[in-house]
Amino acid sequence: MKLICTQASQVLGARLAGRLGVETIDVKYSRFPDGESSLVRDETDDETVIVAAVTGAEALVELLLLIDACDESTNTLVLPYMAYARQDRRFRPGEPLSARAIARAVSTGVDRVITVNLHDPSVLGHFQVPAENISIAPQVGAWVANGHEDGPLVLSPDDGAARFAAEVAAVGGFDHDYLDKTRLSGEQVEIRPKSLPAEGREVVIVDDIISTGGTLATAARMLLDQGAIAVHAACVHGVFAGGALLHLAAAGVERVVCSDTIERANSCITAADRLADTLR
Ligand code: R5P
Repeated sequence: MKLICTQASQVLGARLAGRLGVETIDVKYSRFPDGESSLVRDETDDETVIVAAVTGAEALVELLLLIDACDESTNTLVLPYMAYARQDRRFRPGEPLSARAIARAVSTGVDRVITVNLHDPSVLGHFQVPAENISIAPQVGAWVANGHEDGPLVLSPDDGAARFAAEVAAVGGFDHDYLDKTRLSGEQVEIRPKSLPAEGREVVIVDDIISTGGTLATAARMLLDQGAIAVHAACVHGVFAGGALLHLAAAGVERVVCSDTIERANSCITAADRLADTLR
């Protein structure tokens, strides 16, 4: 077995190769004069693990080229982050089912897919090869437990992520709850923990994705107003669209960390151990 990765997944790819004790395949990336992507890989093996976070159009094209370049081997695709996975239903007639479009595109040429904390695991059904989704909630929990020995309150921003928060909190035996949004008027909402007050507590808000950070920034402001000592944030996928990190800092969030499913300067958590266990 050998491992090959796209440019967006070099850190995770190297960590995973290390955990598995396998060689990585070198790839030379370049561009044609019209801007189209080109790549040439070194020798592959009978069995190849392809690691590629699909964060947008460029990354998707690179992955499709890489899969095609590995067409002589049996390929397992590790898809640490899957763009468009949140578009998992048609909201209006005439819309694409975008998650299905991406799943179908990357299924061609691979034999198995492994995803990480998909927003909705039902998306697995759109891949045309066997697919499984792993959760790194225990790794997020280990980060919370290492940095916050005083027993923080672990909160999810909504009841949809309440189970994720429970799995994170279980690592350190921390209290957990989810944030409940009450609409006070056309313009005003109030966000507070459903049952455990934040007053006098250090809070860690955990979620699968931080995108614009809008939900989390509003929640952080309110929790600090309600007497929380400090608010931190930890997520699996740090999308951080449109200045999200700055908005979160301005809202008083002390620290924001994510995993290496999308490689960022604050990727303090790795998915490599769980992925290596699954691949073994
Ligand atoms: C939604 O259900 C997800 O779990 C995240 O809470 C959401 O995608 C975060 O989006 P944003 O950071 O833009 O508020």
